[in-house]
Formats: sequence, structure tokens, C-alpha cells
Amino acid sequence: MSKYKIGLFGFGCVGQGLYKTLAENSLDAEIVKVCVKNKNKQRSIDNDRITYNPSDILNDDQINIVVELIDDPQAALDIVRKALKSRKAVVTANKKMVAENLDELIALQKEYETPLLYEGAVCGSIPIIRNLEDYYASEHISEIKGIFNGSSNYILTKLFQEGKSYEEALGEAQANGFAESDPTLDVGGFDPKFKLSIILQHAFGLRLHPDNIFNWGIQNITDSDIAFARERNLKIKLLAKAYYNGDSLSAVVAPHFIDSQNPLYHVENEFNCVLINGKFASNQTLIGKGAGSLPTGLAVLSDVVALTQGYAYRYRSSDHKVDTSELVEVYLSAKDIDAINWTAFDTISEKYVGNDYGYVIGKVALSELSSLLSNGSPDTNLVFTSGSQKEVEIPSLTYSYAS
Ligand SMILES: NC(=O)c1ccc[n+]([C@@H]2O[C@H](COP(=O)([O-])OP(=O)(O)OC[C@H]3O[C@@H](n4cnc5c(N)ncnc54)[C@H](OP(=O)(O)O)[C@@H]3O)[C@@H](O)[C@H]2O)c1
Repeated sequence: MSKYKIGLFGFGCVGQGLYKTLAENSLDAEIVKVCVKNKNKQRSIDNDRITYNPSDILNDDQINIVVELIDDPQAALDIVRKALKSRKAVVTANKKMVAENLDELIALQKEYETPLLYEGAVCGSIPIIRNLEDYYASEHISEIKGIFNGSSNYILTKLFQEGKSYEEALGEAQANGFAESDPTLDVGGFDPKFKLSIILQHAFGLRLHPDNIFNWGIQNITDSDIAFARERNLKIKLLAKAYYNGDSLSAVVAPHFIDSQNPLYHVENEFNCVLINGKFASNQTLIGKGAGSLPTGLAVLSDVVALTQGYAYRYRSSDHKVDTSELVEVYLSAKDIDAINWTAFDTISEKYVGNDYGYVIGKVALSELSSLLSNGSPDTNLVFTSGSQKEVEIPSLTYSYAS
């Protein structure tokens, strides 16, 4: 008889990854019930362990750990709430559900003195949340940034290395199982924003709802944008980043021009990367698979192991302020560049107008970006060149393309 009885919700990509990784370990834990949705699917586990009724897990007193791995954030929230209220420790990998409801989830953990862990929700197999909680607790982190979305990075790799079209690359990412069921969450920069929101809590003690973080993705990237980058020996990478700007924190998700000196330049395909810059340890880089059955299954299993050792997040709090008035330098392109809202820019250092492509490079307040993009033409694309943490200095390059 195992000491730890797991009730598992979801037996898809990650659920099966957990099942396999657990089977190859000698942990004193077993999956006793699996709740799924579709009664017509063939399963690779015994039928007597399968249920379609969540209460069979949530009301079972012998189950002391609930692992939630379904692809429906609302139903997931319901499961996690009920499990915590029944004082069953919970593991989840659902970043959207965690990021959007973290205040409530922290309160539930405190009220019912029951932990919720979610290492697999942030950058798949990269061990980041417990490292931020424990290893980096004594560090003064000044900046944390990286590539938090494997499918966007896969698409960008195919665009830059293989010259594939955006549609071809997206189709390949979906066929390989890297893109979520709704690709908007990946390519629109929402998925990395959920992860950044969770990271802000554990790195800086700052609770910032994802709705309050600016995000822009790679959905409007064009061949001209890629040519612009290539001619300057740059790549475009979708970055999530949080950093101190004076005494305040800034947080943003957007594509960035990156040069070959930057470790992120070399992170390709479905890999994720987290860069942490701190006062004592300086720069540290974690690279690993950001998604996939076994890598994410392992992250979930590591949470299960942590629970068996009595682990819980501490949720340090801070009184940090968030600054959105900071001026950031961006490259904005569109078919009709004259149609953009010029008044949003503080300064413009460069403008190019061609037949069916034009761009401007200029400085704009972070708080103005949303209106700049929503009021522009629907094909507008945005790439950051620098923030207060510089990625590249576009103006120092030669403008062969624009001449
Ligand atoms: N895939 C990855 O690499 C990855 C990486 C990090 C985090 N995650 C997160 O992990 C979670 C699971 O992702 P996944 O890729 O494993 O999803 P998936 O392959 O689509 O599998 C989803 C599973 O959830 C079950 N399900 C859906 N709604 C349900 C409900 N209301 N009650 C019970 N079961 C339900 C499905 O049942 P049926 O089998 O009956 O259809 C299926 O077994 C998501 O939150 C995702 O964001 C995934």
C-alpha cells in the first residue's frame, strides 16, 4: 500500500507523461484514479481506474494528492478549489488558471493549510519556481527574462533558419504538439504572459494580474520584418521580461531584436530559456524543453515528490510598484506606415516608406503601446529594440535595407 494516493485529472500529453515518469521511479505514491472527459477514447491504463465523475476523486478520502492536468482552465479552477477545500494537496500545470486566479489560490492555500504546486506550468522542464522560492530567496534579482513559449520559438526558428512561411511553420508546430489547442495563446504572447505573471510572484513577491501586463506576439510578423533583422545579423525572439527600472518594476511580453552576443540568440526550436540577473550571482541561464509529455511530466512529478516532503510555497510579498511610463524603443512596421498614430511616439529616430512596407523606429511609453497597436492598421507589427535593459542598439547599425 502506497502512502501517497494520487487522483489524476486529465490523461493527455502531460497526464501520460506523469504516468510514465512515475512508473520509472520508486516513489511511495501511486495513481489510484484518473478522471477524463471522453468516454469513447481508447486508454492505455486499466478501465477500473478510469472515471468520468470528478467527485470520484474529490470525495475519495484515501486520495491525498490531486494532480490537475486538463486543458480547460475554468473546469481546472473548479477542481483545484474543491480539492484545496477538501485539504487535498494539489499539483497543476495550468498557467492560465494559476496566473489569473493566484490571489484566490494563495488565500485558499492559507485558509485550508493545504499546498498547491505548479512547476510544470512555467517553462515545462526548466526548474524555475522552486529555485526562485528557495535558491534565489537570498539573491537580489534585478532582471528575469527569457523565451517562455516553445511554439513561438519553434515558428521563429523555422522562419529564420529554413525560410518557411509563417503558416507553414505554425502548422508544423501544431503537428508536433508544441502549440496549444488555441494557437492565439502561444503566438499572441498570452501564454508567456501567464508564465511571467507567476514568475513575478516568486521572483519579486509582486502580484501582477496578467491583464495588467502588456503582451504582443509574433502573429503579424512579415517577410520584410525578417529581412530587416537578417540584414543586420539579428534574430527576432519572443521575450517575456521583468526588470527594475529605478525603484519600480517593468514587465512586458513582446518580440525583440536579438544579436549573437545574447544567449537567447542561440535558443532554437521548442526550447525555452530563463535568464536571471542578480546582485550576487550575476547572470545565470537555464535552458530546457519548455513543453512535451515527458519533460512536463517530470516537472509535475517533481512537485509530487516535493509534496511528499511537506513542501509549500512561502509567497513572500513586497510593496513593489509597477511602472508603465518608461520609454521603450520599438520598431513598428505596416503596409501603410503613415496610418499609424504618430502622436503616441515620444521621439522617432528613423522612418522608411516603401511600396507595401514601411517602418518607424522610435521611443514610446510602455503604457501607450496598446492604443498604438489597436489604432493602427491590422497588419501592424511591433518588435522591441531596447527597454531600459538593452537588447540591441538598432541605430548603431548600417541601414542597407532602408537606403
Ligand atoms: N502539453 C504540454 O507540453 C504542456 C506543457 C506545460 C503545461 N501544459 C499544461 O498542462 C495541461 C494539460 O495539457 P495537455 O497538453 O496534457 O492537454 P491534452 O493533451 O489536450 O489533454 C487534456 C486531458 O484533459 C482531459 N479533460 C479535458 N477536460 C476535462 C474535464 N472537464 N474533466 C476531466 N478531464 C478533462 C482530456 O480528456 P480526454 O482524454 O477524455 O479528452 C485529456 O485527457 C494544460 O493546462 C496545459 O496548459 C502542457
